[in-house]
Amino acid sequence: MDLLQKILVPLIGLILAFWFYSGKEDFKPEMLKGKHVIVTGASSGIGEQMAYHLAHMGSHILITARTESRLQKVVARCLEMGAASAMYINGSMEDMMFAQSVVKKALELWGNLDMLILNHIGTSDFHYFDRDIAHVQKLLDINFLSYVAMTTAALPMLKNSGGSIVVVSSMAGKVGFPFVAPYSATKFALDGFFSSLRQEFVMRNTNISITLCILGLINTENAMKAVSEVYASSAAPKEECALEIIKGGALRQREVYYKYTPTKIPLLIRDWAPDLLDYFIRLKYNVGKQED
Ligand SMILES: NC(=O)c1ccc[n+]([C@@H]2O[C@H](COP(=O)([O-])OP(=O)(O)OC[C@H]3O[C@@H](n4cnc5c(N)ncnc54)[C@H](OP(=O)(O)O)[C@@H]3O)[C@@H](O)[C@H]2O)c1
Ligand SMILES: *[C@@H]1O[C@H](CO)[C@@H](O)[C@H](O)[C@H]1NC(C)=O
Ligand SMILES: *[C@@H]1O[C@H](CO)[C@@H](O)[C@H](O)[C@H]1NC(C)=O
Repeated sequence: MDLLQKILVPLIGLILAFWFYSGKEDFKPEMLKGKHVIVTGASSGIGEQMAYHLAHMGSHILITARTESRLQKVVARCLEMGAASAMYINGSMEDMMFAQSVVKKALELWGNLDMLILNHIGTSDFHYFDRDIAHVQKLLDINFLSYVAMTTAALPMLKNSGGSIVVVSSMAGKVGFPFVAPYSATKFALDGFFSSLRQEFVMRNTNISITLCILGLINTENAMKAVSEVYASSAAPKEECALEIIKGGALRQREVYYKYTPTKIPLLIRDWAPDLLDYFIRLKYNVGKQED
């Protein structure tokens, strides 16, 4: 990937220049002040960091995950950091009734919603596909279907507020990576569903933005535990990652790439030389330690 980056540096320059001169609005933390935001998967990792950024910006926050004790700690810290309010609701996104009840809770609490940040994922292993169909189905429920259920439930409130949906995805939701077939499938599904929905919003003048976030490797505890022995790539900081996601959502961007160059460049190659990109991805895998 290093070599590719060197070859394509002038190209990046052009893209950045285009992006810079396209006259987009700048992000200001005040954009989130007093806003009502749901963050899912906020008991750890990137979701937890997003809650802290939002607290600092003075948002009303509703967070969710399964583990109540961790959510309580995150809420307490959010209040210390200046959140306008902070609440949690615990449960599993395997259950679509629960997914919808999170949105219902926001309706009861606030009667209003400005941003829905969909970030949670079910646990999945990092190894060759083990033919476990039940796991694929379960992961589709948690990582995909619950996102659809929450979005559907939140549409009336988001229409009222001219709000935003932020969907956290991955490089594995744009290109194939080994050892994450079920996870990858759920992330590709999100791209398909939300890209289609975005088109319909434009056609029907529905003023709701959809931001899809394409993340490279991030240094969250769970990700590091899962891949460290097998996948050799530097991990970007979860704190900055969380902030970039919130910025992208607030600016109503179509997609967020983080970190920008190591995610954007491979995806530019993808459409022209997919075998080459696949090859570079496989180079990062230390498969000696993996068993079939
Ligand atoms: N870290 C990376 O390298 C990386 C790279 C690309 C994309 N991403 C994306 O970034 C997002 C966050 O990743 P992360 O690394 O921060 O993950 P993480 O630290 O493992 O956090 C996952 C969150 O989801 C919750 N969760 C797990 N199973 C759940 C269930 N059945 N129902 C409800 N909540 C559940 C977890 O809390 P409980 O266990 O308490 O439920 C936790 O709060 C994900 O969408 C991921 O795909 C991450
Ligand atoms: C929610 O938290 C309670 C209390 O810790 C726990 O008993 C329950 O299992 C949690 N719910 C889910 C779905 O994990
Ligand atoms: C859509 O909503 C945003 C944010 O609430 C607002 O700034 C913008 O003016 C709205 N656009 C239209 C066309 O109503």
